[in-house]
Amino acid sequence: MAPLRLGVNIDHVATLRNARGGPRPDPLRAALLAIEAGADGITAHLREDRRHIQDADMARLKESISKPLNFEMAATEQMLDVALKIKPRAVCLVPEKRTERTTEGGLDVVGGHDYLAPFVAELSRAGVRVSLFIEPSAEAISASASIKAPVVELHTGAWCHAVEVGESGLAEREFARLEKAVANAAGQGLEVHAGHGLDYDTARRIAAFPQVVELNIGHFLIGEAVFVGLAEAIRRMRAAMNEGRASKAGTS
Ligand code: PXP
Repeated sequence: MAPLRLGVNIDHVATLRNARGGPRPDPLRAALLAIEAGADGITAHLREDRRHIQDADMARLKESISKPLNFEMAATEQMLDVALKIKPRAVCLVPEKRTERTTEGGLDVVGGHDYLAPFVAELSRAGVRVSLFIEPSAEAISASASIKAPVVELHTGAWCHAVEVGESGLAEREFARLEKAVANAAGQGLEVHAGHGLDYDTARRIAAFPQVVELNIGHFLIGEAVFVGLAEAIRRMRAAMNEGRASKAGTS
């Protein structure tokens, strides 16, 4: 079975830093510690409003970390310029609304096909691996394949939210949707990642799908770090993912 990578999203270390306007806590320090604790990569989202990660953070991360940097961004000309300068290992294209608290849904890859395709082509030409953050739907997966993105990241937010608020019927329907989408995307030759809202339990369940090769997790880990420390939260997450990987997909 393919190994399952853990990308640790450090945006919310920057959120905390920006609350006071000084240099602490430093997201680069968190990234270095996360790697030491077992992260396979670091994910950071440079939002158009720069509400957490700043341009200088991206440059410092690229410069200083020993594992791949996954640069999340909206598909805009300005972000493309930044990404082409930084040259991260990977870019994940996400939808972005200024008023949202976090990335709310997947990219509109069906309606946005012609708009998105040149971004994927240009980043790919620069040697950056591009993923599209999409809803776990058949339409979004087919559109992603036709945009020629090599990777899709399936949005797990709806499922995780349903689990979190105890809506078990909805949670199982969302999980079944994800299960179908994972098989569908892998069947179309796409590399499959997943992320948004994952905690130890939901990461354990998603890890059981052998086609999923990367999980990107942020908010829960940074929150847990308050209680157990970042390194310990990452070690526990790694252990949950390993347990899930060793189990049969679909069981909890
Ligand atoms: N993947 C993508 C594409 C995201 O936009 C985010 C949130 O920035 C994550 C993963 C991580 O989500 P969370 O912070 O809820 O773990």
